[in-house]
Amino acid sequence: MGKYYITTAIVYANGMPHIGHAYELVTTDIPARFQRMKGNDVFFSTGSDEHSLNVLKEARSRGKDPGVYCDEMAEIYKSLWKKYNISNDDYIRTTEERHKKAVKEIFKRSFDSGDIYKGYYEGWYCNACESYYSESDLDEELNCPVHRIKPEKLKEENYFMKLSKYSGRLQEHILKNPDFIQPETRKNEILGILKEGLRDVSISRPGRDWGIKLPVDESQTVYVWFDALINYISVLGFEDGSGEGFKKYWPADVHIIGKDIIKFHCIIWPIMLMSAGIELPKKVFGHGFLLNKGEKMSKTRGNIVDPDNIADVFGVDVIRYFFASNITNGVDGDFSEGAIIKRYNSDLANDLGNLINRSLNMVEKYFDGKAPAYSEEAADDAIKNAADKADTLWERFEPKMEALDFSGALAEAWGCIGAANKLIETEMPWNLAKEGNTGKLGSLMYVLIEIIRIVSVAAAPVMPETAPKIWKKIGVEYDLRTIRMDAEMKFGKIPEGTPVSKGDPLFPRIKDE
Ligand code: MSP
Repeated sequence: MGKYYITTAIVYANGMPHIGHAYELVTTDIPARFQRMKGNDVFFSTGSDEHSLNVLKEARSRGKDPGVYCDEMAEIYKSLWKKYNISNDDYIRTTEERHKKAVKEIFKRSFDSGDIYKGYYEGWYCNACESYYSESDLDEELNCPVHRIKPEKLKEENYFMKLSKYSGRLQEHILKNPDFIQPETRKNEILGILKEGLRDVSISRPGRDWGIKLPVDESQTVYVWFDALINYISVLGFEDGSGEGFKKYWPADVHIIGKDIIKFHCIIWPIMLMSAGIELPKKVFGHGFLLNKGEKMSKTRGNIVDPDNIADVFGVDVIRYFFASNITNGVDGDFSEGAIIKRYNSDLANDLGNLINRSLNMVEKYFDGKAPAYSEEAADDAIKNAADKADTLWERFEPKMEALDFSGALAEAWGCIGAANKLIETEMPWNLAKEGNTGKLGSLMYVLIEIIRIVSVAAAPVMPETAPKIWKKIGVEYDLRTIRMDAEMKFGKIPEGTPVSKGDPLFPRIKDE
């Protein structure tokens, strides 16, 4: 089996977690778990971006040493990700030695290849997004287009990176590798920028203490984005390019990031890598933004959802399922309690929850709580079709998961649940029981149990707490760390006589208030 390296963006350490951060972590954790369950050797990294000037300012405003403040923030994020069952293999912080070492190495490589030169930067700088802007990028009131606040006018000596030199090569790479930037809208955005031509970018700031000093000039620190992007290789132990982890896992199979930082990841990062003689990541996927009732979440609007609190209200798996099923990956999506309750009641309480309750109740009643035998002869076409739908789910599910289309993949799985629920209505097992048609009744029950099993395996990367609870009810002993989805998502795996028990309902209906 192959390797699979997947990353999230690293969060700025100067603010509390935001539901948008949780969205990104969950939608990265799902493919990470999925790839492990396909038998791949996965490395999943996340972390914090600590050399931002805003981090220093925030620490100072609290009267704290920035290092101590970053330690505290990293703990807050790490414990939240634990709560969300994020299965990251490492957590990189840009103040760590292993990271600083890699940044210096990459800077030196580009410097030695003549791609970094000294010059003057004169223009605008938005401290909130830590980004340089030309006047034409600003809005009519000369505000930052993202934060709508006045950027700072700068004139300073900086080191620059020759982006312009690589513009053609990058364009060619994007066109030759149609999967490199996903979804298509983001790819077109980047191709549009490249068409207009690239300006060289400043990659250092003078007179700063908070940051990594340039290996060629101690009076300057590395620009926070040049620094932060290198996390994707420093977390692997880049060293001087000879690190074991780097050799094993690079290039990344996918960087998952938000649409706001696509330019850094699809222009600056690939050019940094080209200049340093390192292979490019295979894919950058720019997800959409979570909105609150259609509006951008922001401190000023006071409408930011706290991911810690919302997980306490609904449970982590419900939030994870909501992210995956209700939001089309790659476009903006609404996040509200009303929408969560609606999705929960329809998909989890009604569809999946009812299927489990009704089916296992009947197996307890008619077959003494033991999985009955399946017989092709006794089953009718409707039962056989449902069995077939579950048996072939993997073929429809896998390509959608590979394409990071989680809502599409889950819709395929829920299609099997729908078929099973319909089968109960049309076959009327209570009548089969009355008639004493045990062969057909048993085959029907067997198919229902198998659909529950196959769908719960499909849902495991999304709901890693719930799936094992379902497995317990149907008497299967899967281990999340070792289960192979491709092998298990096949019809007919549960042996006759396996004990099943309905137990307590997993998804009691929520009264929508
Ligand atoms: N530190 C940089 C990333 C450096 S990566 C080399 C940064 N940090 S951030 O904390 O502002 O954002 C972290 C991630 O969260 C980004 O991918 C960003 O797009 C994402 N989100 C922040 N708010 C979001 C929403 N409202 N919705 C979805 N994701 C959003 O950018």
